[in-house]
Amino acid sequence: LWLNTFLDQTGLSVDGVNICAVDVGERQKNLDTCRHIWSLMLAAGLDRRALVINLGGGVVGDMGGFCAATFNRGVDFVQVPTTLLAMTDAAVGGKLGVDFRGVKNLIGVFQQPVRIFIDEQFLTTLPERELRSGMAEVIKHALIGEPGLWDIICAGGVGSEDWKSLVNRSVQVKMNIVKEDPRESGLRALLNFGHTIGHALESYFLNSEEPLTHGEAVAVGMFCEAVLAPASFGLPLGELQQVLSRYFLHRPIPSDAIPVLWGFMQHDKKNSGGVVRVILPDREPYRMHSIAINQSDVERAISVYNNLRC
Ligand SMILES: NC(=O)c1ccc[n+]([C@@H]2O[C@H](COP(=O)([O-])OP(=O)(O)OC[C@H]3O[C@@H](n4cnc5c(N)ncnc54)[C@H](O)[C@@H]3O)[C@@H](O)[C@H]2O)c1
Repeated sequence: LWLNTFLDQTGLSVDGVNICAVDVGERQKNLDTCRHIWSLMLAAGLDRRALVINLGGGVVGDMGGFCAATFNRGVDFVQVPTTLLAMTDAAVGGKLGVDFRGVKNLIGVFQQPVRIFIDEQFLTTLPERELRSGMAEVIKHALIGEPGLWDIICAGGVGSEDWKSLVNRSVQVKMNIVKEDPRESGLRALLNFGHTIGHALESYFLNSEEPLTHGEAVAVGMFCEAVLAPASFGLPLGELQQVLSRYFLHRPIPSDAIPVLWGFMQHDKKNSGGVVRVILPDREPYRMHSIAINQSDVERAISVYNNLRC
């Protein structure tokens, strides 16, 4: 969609670049697609001075970055995110990878891009559903590290004219955290708020007739995980629910999904010693809590979610 504009605006000529188009969507984010990309890189004769440009959403960024970071033991890459979710989150921070056997991002590496180019003009063609999806990570960043942005979002003050400032503020929260803890040995885990249950939901619905987008899954995940937070953390559950219901449709979760979701959670990368954990923010910005959960906690949280009147 944006390839020709991108080439025009950057002054790159079609003759000077090898173009690899991949089918989009989470279902394509796997090693089969990587094999295809690596084959094209090999056929194009890329050497270690090559530069890979990932123009697309989070799937392209995660997978193209992973292919670049592993080809020839690593070639440089730049991220050019074209979705709100990728601009505010996926393209920033150097986490790259693909899904494996239904488990999200199981195979991957940490490697920073040499540059990230963020240009909100790409958002002009993004479908409404994808814009809303991106809001999930913006809401997460606001809640964990930007009280001013959280207040604006709660007051309903986010409109299309605000994308630039919204993206900048959201990216800043992620950068602050990644700078402090690039390889997730501490604070970076805070960015996983909503993702233990969210990733399991995304995997669960992936092959259904109506898959959830990443942001939709994270939105349900944030609510369910916040339900499990002790009151002492000071999480504004009511406000969070109101904000999420403004952007996301209610998607009931069938009760027979619980054991399957729990199965996915057993493979979550934050687990240690077989204990499943969720990461929760605190009322205090950039402060986090890690709590162990069991299957009945998940069942309780999902039952609260299912009973919401939206
Ligand atoms: N690496 C990280 O730190 C990180 C963080 C968050 C999410 N992620 C990953 O990001 C992925 C989700 O990213 P996403 O939400 O961007 O999904 P996506 O890449 O699947 O893109 C969503 C859809 O939007 C379309 N699209 C992209 N740009 C467009 C544009 N400008 N105009 C019109 N259509 C456009 C795509 O073709 C696709 O159909 C997930 O795989 C998730 O795991 C990674």
